[in-house]
Amino acid sequence: MKLLSVIFCFSFMLSAQDLARGEKLYKKCTACHGNDGLGKKSQKAPMIAGQFEWYLKEQIYNIKNGTRANNNTKKMMPYVKNLSDEDISNLSAYIASMPKKK
Ligand code: HEC
Repeated sequence: MKLLSVIFCFSFMLSAQDLARGEKLYKKCTACHGNDGLGKKSQKAPMIAGQFEWYLKEQIYNIKNGTRANNNTKKMMPYVKNLSDEDISNLSAYIASMPKKK
C-alpha cells in the first residue's frame, strides 16, 4: 500500500510539472490564441481552451509536419516547428486544462 501511494504521489508530481511547463510554453501562443485560449477572430485563430488533449496533440503534429497546411496554419508554423514531443505533450495537457468558454 505504501508503495502504491508513493507511485501515486510521484505521478501526480509529474503531471503537475507538465502543466507548469505547458503553461510556460503557451506564452508563445497567446498572440493569436489569447491568454485564455479562446482564440482571436482577427488572427483567424480558433479557441482551443478545454479541447481534448489527444485532438490538440494531433493538430499540433499535423501543422508541424505539414499534413494540415493552409494559409492560416502557415502563420503558426514558426511557433511549432521547434517544439519537441515532450513540449507538444505538455502544451496539449495545459491547453486541455484551461476552462472552456461558457
Ligand atoms: C501567428 C498566429 C498563431 C500563433 C502564434 C499560434 N497559432 Fe495556433 N493557430 C493559428 C491559426 C490561424 C489556426 C487555424 C488554422 C486553420 O485555419 O487551419 C491555428 C490552429 C491551432 C490549433 C488547431 C485548433 C483546432 O481546433 O483544430 C491548435 C491546437 C493550435 N493552433 C495550437 C497552437 C499552439 C500550441 C501555439 C503555440 C505554440 C499556437 N497555436 C500558436 C494561429 C496561431
